[in-house]
Amino acid sequence: MLRHSFTRCARLPRASRVLDLVASLSTTTAQKAAANRAVIFTDAGNPAEVLRVQSYDPPSSPLADSVKVRFRLSPINPSDINVVQGVYPATPMKMQFGGDEANVGGNEGLAEVLEVGSAVKGLKRGDWVISAKPQVGTWSSLRTLRAEDVIKLPAESLSEVNPPTAYNMLHEFVQLKEGDWVLQNGANSAVGQAVIQIAARKGIKTINFVRNRPDIDHLMSQLVQLGATHVFTYDALSDKSLAKHVKQWTSDNPIRLMLNCVSGPDTTAMTRLLGDNAHIVSYGAMSKKPLSLPTSLFIFKNLCAQGFWQSRWYQQHSRQEREDLMKTLADFKLKEPEHEILDLSAEPSDEAATQRLRHVLLKMEQGFGKKVLLRLG
Ligand SMILES: NC(=O)c1ccc[n+]([C@@H]2O[C@H](COP(=O)([O-])OP(=O)(O)OC[C@H]3O[C@@H](n4cnc5c(N)ncnc54)[C@H](OP(=O)(O)O)[C@@H]3O)[C@@H](O)[C@H]2O)c1
Repeated sequence: MLRHSFTRCARLPRASRVLDLVASLSTTTAQKAAANRAVIFTDAGNPAEVLRVQSYDPPSSPLADSVKVRFRLSPINPSDINVVQGVYPATPMKMQFGGDEANVGGNEGLAEVLEVGSAVKGLKRGDWVISAKPQVGTWSSLRTLRAEDVIKLPAESLSEVNPPTAYNMLHEFVQLKEGDWVLQNGANSAVGQAVIQIAARKGIKTINFVRNRPDIDHLMSQLVQLGATHVFTYDALSDKSLAKHVKQWTSDNPIRLMLNCVSGPDTTAMTRLLGDNAHIVSYGAMSKKPLSLPTSLFIFKNLCAQGFWQSRWYQQHSRQEREDLMKTLADFKLKEPEHEILDLSAEPSDEAATQRLRHVLLKMEQGFGKKVLLRLG
């Protein structure tokens, strides 16, 4: 008997968080004149020690090819933490603060267009955009960005955690059809939750792995409500009956896609569940361990191991293709992962804002369990 497994038993709940978010944004806009702050660091290190909040002068009007935007919500993602630690292969944005240069954190963020350069086409004041360019320093408020580096969001899709990574991984590697199966780890991550939902909408079944925890049943039932077909903890991988069960479930349709954001020994064990000609697509390495794959899987099962990086996808696709993707995603009306907004715009001083930020970063280090979204102005 497999322990810690849940199967689908409920329909997907309606998403209301996105609307809540839009409402909370408009209220805040109306309520107060916004501050202009950024979360910066000079040297790489422990985020709770090196990150600080710094006010800065607002930029002047945008050049002809640029837009002035205000970032309204910017997530603190695992890769952002790695950039601050100096262990992620990306160079953070540099800005001048009172004559000194510092790095500005943040790779993703939802921004409102405030002013448009004279030669910019297709964007207007009031549009909502995200950055197509990596590492623009989204942990900031007022900024000017080149218009070609932003993607306009359809009004109905306002979302702070964008799911393109999940969508693209489900479409770019294996031609999946209704009834097919996908295996994934880190299933409760923001990306993992989007994978579950998009797959469920398309009739694709998912086998999901998460880490064990005291309230594991609660997490499992949440993922099942999102549309997960099965949810397991990694402990189930040592149960010999798991492979047998998976084989029974997938006998007509062996698993051909596995999404990996963890790596390490548990991920290696998961590959035993794959069918012939499967693709394992790695997009993160949360365990900070290497991915080791049995040679036999390549020889006898024709396994293909690949990587995916959404930033590369943006670089390789046109503005039209990026905007089309956002429209497609808007139509899914995905439920947002649990999140908390850390509003530092109203803190009385940069020191007070820094203290609050560091307190939250310490909580995140210990496993906060919710996505933290920064609001700096
Ligand atoms: N390649 C790309 O284009 C791309 C795009 C977006 C994100 N990513 C990557 O995708 C991953 C998830 O990002 P996200 O923003 O969705 O993350 P998130 O919502 O912050 O969730 C982090 C996930 O990592 C898990 N985790 C943390 N430490 C772990 C460990 N030592 N062993 C196993 N699992 C661990 C967490 O599980 P617990 O709840 O058990 O802590 C949680 O499921 C990250 O690695 C990120 O860099 C890649």
